[in-house]
Amino acid sequence: MSELILFLAEQGKTIKSGFLKSQDKAGTRNMYGEEQMALDKWADDVLIKGLKKTRLVRYIATEEQPVIIEIENPKNQFGVVIDPLDGSSLIDVNLAVGTIIGIYPGNVLDKGKNMIAAMYILYGPLTTLTLSAGNGVCDFVMDEKGEFNLTAQDIRIPDAKLYAPGALRKDYLPAHAKFIEELENEGYKLRFSGSFVADMHQILHKGGVFTYPGYAGKEKGKLRLLFEANPIGKIITDAGGAISNGRTDILEMKPTAIDDITPIYAGGKKEIRLIEKMIAESQSG
Ligand code: AHG
Ligand code: MN
Ligand code: MN
Repeated sequence: MSELILFLAEQGKTIKSGFLKSQDKAGTRNMYGEEQMALDKWADDVLIKGLKKTRLVRYIATEEQPVIIEIENPKNQFGVVIDPLDGSSLIDVNLAVGTIIGIYPGNVLDKGKNMIAAMYILYGPLTTLTLSAGNGVCDFVMDEKGEFNLTAQDIRIPDAKLYAPGALRKDYLPAHAKFIEELENEGYKLRFSGSFVADMHQILHKGGVFTYPGYAGKEKGKLRLLFEANPIGKIITDAGGAISNGRTDILEMKPTAIDDITPIYAGGKKEIRLIEKMIAESQSG
């Protein structure tokens, strides 16, 4: 697994080197009907080609591919789930974007709690790598030589009043509206960039809660269970936080298909308990 993690970290450098080449749209759509950026496809290509060449894993599922890729003669049985570039609509305005990866012992259509490692590389003013592989959550920062140096170990999410609320307020479902109102009354400050990985990195270090809820007309929300919710969910959970769909722990969900989507509440345990309580009450009453 360490060979795989080192290999993936190395790909972050290559992905980053593509940023200067193009900030344009690719003219194609992914399986969610979303417009792909040239860099979404670049990052996807870098990772898939590299993994095929090294044969370090057996299964690859990515946000940009409609089916699970199975590698011939793999050296290991690992399955990886990848959001090659998260927040890619922000590339042209130079905001932070990232690569999110989860590693399973085998099949990728598995519960998030069975992941053996999760990581993300965040391309901002610094290029950082955040990893949880059984020894707590660690941060690394890329230096001028392109090497990742450990900067923080056993990261724990602090208790703080930040909130990152996705979706449109006019479409909020009643329990969610109540939750947001409560956070605002408590003095939570708004922090939403449009890049899940960047917003969650802030929540991991500064505390609070990120949410992309289900909403009127799209009760499952927008974000992807395999590629976004689960890897970030493992990291935030391993840091003492939690991730929920508003009813239950997302890491307990058994995926039905690679493109499953889910409402997301991720951050401090206190905030996650509050939304679960509010949704349960709205259903019982
Ligand atoms: P991606 O760039 O991988 O398609 O993901 C974008 C996601 C996520 O990063 C972010 O939280 C959310 O979409 C933002 O959506 P809105 O534009 O609806 O706020
Ligand atoms: Mn994404
Ligand atoms: Mn993406």
